[in-house]
Amino acid sequence: MSPPQPRPPVTVRTATLADVDALVDMLVAVAGEGRWIGAEAPVDVERRRRRMADEVESDDVIVLVAEAGGEPVGQLGLRLAGYGVADLGMAVAAAWRGRGVGTALLAEAVERARKAGAHKLALQVWPHNQAAIALYERFGFQREGYLRRHYRRRSGELWDAVVMGLPLD
Ligand SMILES: CC(C)(COP(=O)(O)OP(=O)(O)OC[C@H]1O[C@@H](n2cnc3c(N)ncnc32)[C@H](O)[C@@H]1OP(=O)(O)O)[C@@H](O)C(=O)NCCC(=O)NCCS
Repeated sequence: MSPPQPRPPVTVRTATLADVDALVDMLVAVAGEGRWIGAEAPVDVERRRRRMADEVESDDVIVLVAEAGGEPVGQLGLRLAGYGVADLGMAVAAAWRGRGVGTALLAEAVERARKAGAHKLALQVWPHNQAAIALYERFGFQREGYLRRHYRRRSGELWDAVVMGLPLD
């Protein structure tokens, strides 16, 4: 067996319009896994690109991209509500999970949300997504609620969701 290849360091920056296609490609791949995020295959790619471009240009959304060796390996979106809560969604490319990319994105997101004046981060996560829940709990997120049979999947199944929050004040 060959030794594992060294990986380039990960950096986190604000996404630009030039990132939109790559970030949507990443979302399509994660949606295709079928288990982790709200989006499901088949994703309407054009619509997603338009939405992502709007988000990148919006004053109410912060889109972060994690990069390694010039390639995007993770993304995080923060939607800032007028009442001070920043709603968070994130994904790391499958080949890059478990290597600190999610941690780097989330650390930057907490800083950005604070700077934007948010008093709280909020998110929803599938109860079976133990990697995500563990990451959020490491940052101090707490389980605040549980939505039963809340989201209809394309299979017709109704999935529960855990509501989590991290006060910043
Ligand atoms: C959830 C996700 C963003 C985590 O990103 P990541 O880059 O793998 O996370 P990190 O490598 O920074 O791991 C940080 C911590 O998360 C937890 N974690 C990560 N992967 C884990 C796993 N497979 N099982 C249990 N805990 C895990 C651990 O607490 C870990 O800390 P440790 O390394 O000290 O043990 C990533 O797995 C992912 O993109 N999954 C698919 C999309 C998704 O689930 N998005 C979130 C939807 S709510």
